[in-house]
Amino acid sequence: MSADPIIFSAELVALLRRALKLVALTGAGVSQESGLRTFRDAQAGLWAQYKPEDLASPQAFQRDPKLVWDWYAWRREAVKGVRPNPGHYALVEMEKRIPGFTLITQNVDGLHRMAGSQNVLELHGNIQRVRCADCYTFAETWDDNTESVPECRECGGLLRPDVVWFGESLPRPQLEAAVEAARSCEVFFSIGTSGVVQPAASLAFAAHNRGAVIVEINAEPTPLTSKADHVFHGKSGEILPRLVEAVWG
Ligand code: OAD
Repeated sequence: MSADPIIFSAELVALLRRALKLVALTGAGVSQESGLRTFRDAQAGLWAQYKPEDLASPQAFQRDPKLVWDWYAWRREAVKGVRPNPGHYALVEMEKRIPGFTLITQNVDGLHRMAGSQNVLELHGNIQRVRCADCYTFAETWDDNTESVPECRECGGLLRPDVVWFGESLPRPQLEAAVEAARSCEVFFSIGTSGVVQPAASLAFAAHNRGAVIVEINAEPTPLTSKADHVFHGKSGEILPRLVEAVWG
C-alpha cells in the first residue's frame, strides 16, 4: 500500500457516517488487483489476437461456438485461482455499517460474494455458472476435453456460460432492483468501471439526477468524472480500505 495520504473531506466522512442508503457499482478495475485483467486490457497469449467484444456475443457463439467456449474455459480457469483483494473486503465492511447497502457489479468473477458481500446484484451473470443456450437448464458438470462444445443433458443444446453477451438483455430482476436502488440512494459509488457499457453506466446518472452524491474511484477519468462530487484517482484496493478506516476506523 502506498504511503501517500489520501484526503477524504470532512463532508464526505460525515455523509457516509449517517448514510442509510448507498449503492456501489463496480467494474473490472476492482478485480485488477486480484490479478484479473480488466475487460478492455489487452488479452494474453493465444487470445491476444481477439478483441473481447468479438468473442462475447451470440453472433460469435453461432459462428464458432468452440472458440467462444474455449475462451470462457480459459477465463474460468483464470478466475478459479484468484482471491478477493482489500477493495472487495472494504466493500464488505461498508455493507456492515450502512443499513441499505446495495452492491451492483458488472463483474462475472464472483469475487464480491467470495469476499463476503451479501446484497450483490450481478448484472452480467457469473462465469462459473454454465447453462444450456437453448433450454436454459443449468449444468453442474460437463466434459471440457471434447472436440466440440459440451451438450445439455436435457435437450442436447450447446452449453454456454451464464453471462450477458453484447446485444443480450440483462437479467430483468437484477436490473430492476439495480435501477430502484440507484434511484433511491443518498450516495452512489462508481468504482473501477470505465462507464461505457449500458445500461450499467446509466445507473450513476440516474442516481445523480435524483440528487445522490456521486463518488468515483478509478485509475483514470471516465465519462462520469465531471458529474462526480468526489473523485479519487488510483487503485480501489488502496483507496477503499483507507476510506473505511477514515470513516469508521
Ligand atoms: P473496463 O475494462 O471497461 O474498465 C475497467 C476500469 O477500471 C477502467 O476505467 C480502468 O481505468 C479502471 N481500473 C483499472 N484498474 C483499476 C484499479 N486497480 N482500481 C480502480 N480502477 C481501476 O471494465 P468494465 O467497466 O467493468 O460486460 O466493463 C464493463 C463491461 O464491459 C463488462 O462487464 C463487460 C464489458 O462489456 C459484458 O461482458 C457484458
